Amino acid sequence: MTGDLARNKLLPAIYDLANRGLLPPSFALTGFARRDWTLEHFVDVVHESVVKGARTPYVESTWQELARRIRFVSGSFDDQDAFDRLADTVRELDEEIGTEGNHAFYLSVPPSSFPVVLSRLSQSGLSKSANGSWRRVVIEKPFGSDLQTAKELDEVLSAVFAPEDVFRIDHYLGKETVQNLMALRFANQLFEPLWNSHWVDHVQITMAEDIGIGTRAGYYDGIGAARDVIQNHLLQLLALTAMEEPASFEAAALRAEKIKVLSAVRGPRDIDLHTARGQYGAGWQGGAPVNGFLDEDGMNPNSTTETFAAIRLDIENRRWAGVPFYLRAGKRLGRRVTEIAVVFKRAPHLPFDPVSTSQLGLNALVIRVQPDEGVTIRFGAKTPGTKMEVRDVTMDFGYGHAFTENSPEAYERLLLDVLIGDPPLFPLQREVELSWQILDPILEHWDGQPIEQYRPGSWGPDSAERMMAVDGREWRRP
Ligand code: BG6
Repeated sequence: MTGDLARNKLLPAIYDLANRGLLPPSFALTGFARRDWTLEHFVDVVHESVVKGARTPYVESTWQELARRIRFVSGSFDDQDAFDRLADTVRELDEEIGTEGNHAFYLSVPPSSFPVVLSRLSQSGLSKSANGSWRRVVIEKPFGSDLQTAKELDEVLSAVFAPEDVFRIDHYLGKETVQNLMALRFANQLFEPLWNSHWVDHVQITMAEDIGIGTRAGYYDGIGAARDVIQNHLLQLLALTAMEEPASFEAAALRAEKIKVLSAVRGPRDIDLHTARGQYGAGWQGGAPVNGFLDEDGMNPNSTTETFAAIRLDIENRRWAGVPFYLRAGKRLGRRVTEIAVVFKRAPHLPFDPVSTSQLGLNALVIRVQPDEGVTIRFGAKTPGTKMEVRDVTMDFGYGHAFTENSPEAYERLLLDVLIGDPPLFPLQREVELSWQILDPILEHWDGQPIEQYRPGSWGPDSAERMMAVDGREWRRP
């Protein structure tokens, strides 16, 4: 509970929930970390994270109320005594604050530590609930590094927690704009009739970041863009975009649809032709010089890990047969943007002089996940004047304009769902396994192959353009 994720996201999100009055009255937070800190120091660390990272305004009384409920246990992950102290601490909280034996364990730890932490939790009795109380475990990706290791991790988890008590975080599912995808598709009559291979030419899902890997070489080297974000975030976006309407938004119904569509996803037949990967080189971005990936702090200078990956996937079902889904993700690209673009076929006939439609692209519906949250529809309109000239225009919905309240952070929603035990936004092990099943052949194919460099601030390596060009298509330049 003292790493980057905790400081930047989890702790501020807890404060924001407190500030919005959404935390249960019996909430308490116990930090457990290897650092030899006092409670006072941990409280200071939480305070600093809150002041720096909270989305809602700082309110001293909210903070004081939260601070009163913070505890800290210091110990290494294999130290049974420390876990016994943790057990004592939560027992005291049951008495003092009324947590009533309900505890969620958020394993914000390196994946290599999962087995030992889980076994210590189990040995100290912490994983077992009694008298109608609950015990839950929250884990963050990476859920293994391929299908085999994902299954191994699940075995370790299942030995200690029941499947319904395991909450796997994919923070993209906590984003408002991602949930809005379901509202857009299933609350409206306008889009769904067009949402199939009769009308859709292809779909592009982009997750572009302008930052590099920063100080995360230890995590990122050997992982790369495909394992880091395609296996989870992008395939979840694909599943929500392509799935059938669920019978309800209950966990079982929603997950069943995601599983069904992920089971129908097929990777490229020719992996060289329909995938691309690259590493950012040194250069300039945002007016400042930036390191190349291999020169980043702590990087192996011979690493062939990719910082950009693009993949064509196909979905073998009646709705989507013949409609490619192109996924791309990368660091140090032109700008930070995540979007899902559903690109429609050209009208079957254009009764215009060809010159006058030369500026007309394909119609598109773009779900802007971030940072400029909203939805755009692109279509052709007549340019003003005496000639019948048509070119692309856009129609926009922006969260910032339509609503006065700003969107909660993904972790606010997800942490709250863990506390109330509401699982729809947490992927199942089966989804994790299907995602690896899709990616594994591609990752194996890439393994050990030379890797292209790309310029910081560009849109990735040349091979990314080539894989679209062979299909007669182009990536969007968001
Ligand atoms: C994480 C990845 O899951 O998502 C990071 O590990 C990435 O590499 C991050 O930077 C991006 O999250 P967001 O919410 O800023 O798009």
